[in-house]
Amino acid sequence: MFTEASNFAGGVDLAFVVILGIGFIFLVGITTVMIWFVIKYRRSKHPKAEQIKDNTTLEITWTLIPVAIVLLMFYYGFIAFRPQRNFPTDAMNVTVVSKMWAWSFIYPGDKESDILVLPVNKAVVLNLTSLDVIHSFYVPAFRQKEDCVPGKVNRMWFIPTMIGEYNVLCAEYCGMNHSYMESKVRVVSAEEYQKWNDAIPNKAVEPEGLAIIKKNGCTGCHSLDGLKLVSSSFKGLYGKESTVLTDGREHTVKVDDEYIRTSIMEPDRDVVKGLPKGVMKSYKGIIKDSDVAKITDYLKSIK
Ligand code: CUA
Repeated sequence: MFTEASNFAGGVDLAFVVILGIGFIFLVGITTVMIWFVIKYRRSKHPKAEQIKDNTTLEITWTLIPVAIVLLMFYYGFIAFRPQRNFPTDAMNVTVVSKMWAWSFIYPGDKESDILVLPVNKAVVLNLTSLDVIHSFYVPAFRQKEDCVPGKVNRMWFIPTMIGEYNVLCAEYCGMNHSYMESKVRVVSAEEYQKWNDAIPNKAVEPEGLAIIKKNGCTGCHSLDGLKLVSSSFKGLYGKESTVLTDGREHTVKVDDEYIRTSIMEPDRDVVKGLPKGVMKSYKGIIKDSDVAKITDYLKSIK
């Protein structure tokens, strides 16, 4: 019915269907009895209520049946879950790095990719990490989900069993663009995987300017990919004409080295029209002049 693209998907679905089925039986059963009782014990037939007290058989029955049902649910959940915690030793290892609001995947040899590519029918262990807050790595088609917690490495494993492309989502609310925090997992043949893996570059060395931007938390408000967060995106900002308010006077400035310096050191001097004043603090004494130049170089590079 739904795509089951990993070795664990069937077990998870079975547990789900069992619980859903039991829920459905109760829905129909309780509704039926309710309607039946409303008719049977209506006031015109039973004008006086009777008090019923202690019925051992009934009490034992309504304890044992629910216990059996709960144990049945537990059984199906447990047999689906147990193998997921039993890690294979010969699996391929990939590190998953999560941050606000993107995924990246690090392959052996420090190769980095922003989508996850996996060979079909081969076990993979994912080592899940976070650079900032708690995220949750979620692939619905694999029925697999695990939290990414800063300062900790969580693991999950599975065997992708169907060639295809599936969604990767973040399942833990992690801030403004949580719902945009997505990627893809592509399951391919072993040969295609090898070809792809040979072609990806080594983990890119981060430009100095970008490292400074990240270290100072700028990306919390300024995206690097054109998306509008709290403030303007850094992408394509350099060289742009911007309408700003300086002491209430509206005028147009060009985003150049000088404007970037002013915006970092005195963010409230020329405030971009439409943006609130006083949200950004001054970085005077926090970001050095030489670092401002490196940031500017970086901004020039992301047009
Ligand atoms: Cu990351 Cu939600």
